[in-house]
Amino acid sequence: MIRPILKYGDDHLHEPAGEVSEVTPDIQQLADDMVETMYAAPGIGLAATQIGVPLRIFVVDLSLGRDIEGLIVMINPVFVERTGMQLEDEGCLSVPGFNATVARPARAVVKGLDRGGVERTIEGTGLLARAFQHEMDHLDGKVFLDRLQGIKKQMIVRRIKKLMRSHQW
Ligand code: NI
Repeated sequence: MIRPILKYGDDHLHEPAGEVSEVTPDIQQLADDMVETMYAAPGIGLAATQIGVPLRIFVVDLSLGRDIEGLIVMINPVFVERTGMQLEDEGCLSVPGFNATVARPARAVVKGLDRGGVERTIEGTGLLARAFQHEMDHLDGKVFLDRLQGIKKQMIVRRIKKLMRSHQW
């Protein structure tokens, strides 16, 4: 089932998510809904926080569903390692229409449970490392705008508030 994606301004996006205590059929259904919602958007990643569920689950697929091996479901993910630095443009399904350059580590290793409850460790570099960190931020109640400083953030927030006032957000 496709779930509505919360947009910037919704308080739920700023609440840290809690651990999943057990990978039950309900959790698997939630993960499936997240995958469906991500593909429908379309986007390369989605955190449970973004559909208003405060649980530590994210899904990522850089292939947008084109490669069957591309889908990553991570439950209770933690960083094992983060190294280097990259500066690239970043966007978010919860902040549609806006992009900004965000500094992120160039490599990130994440460990968590997959959809079957099996522990997985996945190394990401480049865009995958960026996606991991973007989704982990969501689980901690942060969106990429919170990583921006000063005028750049103010400009985007001001434009979003204007859209809100004219009910276009
Ligand atoms: Ni996002």
